[in-house]
Amino acid sequence: MQTKVGIIGAGPAGLMLSHLLHLAGIETVILEKRSREDIEGTIRAGVLEQGTVDLLNASGVGERMMREGLTHHGIELQFNGVRHRVNMHELTEGKSIMVYPQHEVIKDLVAARLKAGGEILFNVDNVSLHDVDKQSPKIRFQYDDSDHELSCDFIMGCDGFHGPSRKEIPDSIRKEKQQIYPFGWLGILAETPIANPELIYSNHDRGFALISTRTPEIQRHYIQVNPNDDINNWSDDRIWTDLKARVETSDGWTLPDGPILQKNIVSMRSFVCEPMQYGRLFLAGDAAHIVPPTGAKGLNLAMTDVQVLQRGIERFYQTGSKDLLDRYSEIALRRVWKAQRFSNFMTTMLHRNFNHSPFERSIQLSELDYVTSSRAALTSLSENYIGLPLEWEAERTVFS
Ligand code: APR
Ligand code: PHB
Repeated sequence: MQTKVGIIGAGPAGLMLSHLLHLAGIETVILEKRSREDIEGTIRAGVLEQGTVDLLNASGVGERMMREGLTHHGIELQFNGVRHRVNMHELTEGKSIMVYPQHEVIKDLVAARLKAGGEILFNVDNVSLHDVDKQSPKIRFQYDDSDHELSCDFIMGCDGFHGPSRKEIPDSIRKEKQQIYPFGWLGILAETPIANPELIYSNHDRGFALISTRTPEIQRHYIQVNPNDDINNWSDDRIWTDLKARVETSDGWTLPDGPILQKNIVSMRSFVCEPMQYGRLFLAGDAAHIVPPTGAKGLNLAMTDVQVLQRGIERFYQTGSKDLLDRYSEIALRRVWKAQRFSNFMTTMLHRNFNHSPFERSIQLSELDYVTSSRAALTSLSENYIGLPLEWEAERTVFS
């Protein structure tokens, strides 16, 4: 088998890259180890930055999102039992976010790729990368019980945090920087009406809580727990009691409860792999970086990585020049580190660190007090949450 760009992984990064390259007339093959049903059914994040919404619309895959997604103009920050609205729409001159689940984005992208005749091989096994530092790299894999080899000009490692691509960057070159947080998130999907018109991020003495949504009938909420806690310790009653204690306010606002459809605990880390490229291998999305979910940046970072890659690859096929591709890692990492900084800031500000001294706890609450009082701080938080413009990187780089 042969193609121009071999893509490992049909997550948001791999699918969007394949879609964008198709629009530029560049052929790709995606190799995915899971089934279509599995990738379309896995519950992940749900907040799309303005730039991601614009990208989906501009590339022709935003129609269902615009119909079914929920546009939010702000968020609420809660501490000391009081809510503070952050009017992001006003503070960012008219921008907003869209609450639209990641697996719905996946469904829309898979449908668009297949409709356009794109090649996605699901249920592939034993994917391995070869000759990534040569002119013609190869991906070997098993599909339908037989061995295959895909020769390509470039390999895109869009295979998430646990995929094989990252390890192809030699140890002598690859630097991995990470921070593990002493926090876990217990997430639930519950059948209840929408609790609040906007997301609520609450810092409470018992720990952080987040009120989010999925559809008018299904809600997504989280509470901070010990990352090593067992989900079996959390009965539905205990979850609702804790959630309510952390988000209800003295002015009579109550959280609607109902049947819990799904619950799990995830741990939190920040992780960056530098560089994000080696030879003819390029990493995008979770394969190269992980952010804690408090800043809602994971999916959005994957989307900006692949836009930078698409421009570099397009330039290569149009002009034969690799100059932009050679700078992919440098351009993408500047953006990645800004998102890391913001995600770390939100995580540190909003979670209850039970190792903190009373002094540190007061400083944390004072940070929230400052952030919700100062227009400058509110503007800074808003522009980061809504998404910093990709042009910031583009302006200092010759994109075209
Ligand atoms: N062979 C083929 N496919 C693989 C392999 C492998 N060895 N290992 C992993 N994959 C696939 C996974 O099954 C998954 O479908 O790669 C895909 C990676 O997708 P994601 O993990 O969703 O990563 P990414 O596309 O970078 O999207 C980042 O997704 O994980 C969330 O919170 C994260 O929102 C962020 C976004
Ligand atoms: C979600 O709805 O899953 C969600 C929302 C905001 C976050 C993280 C997750 O910061």
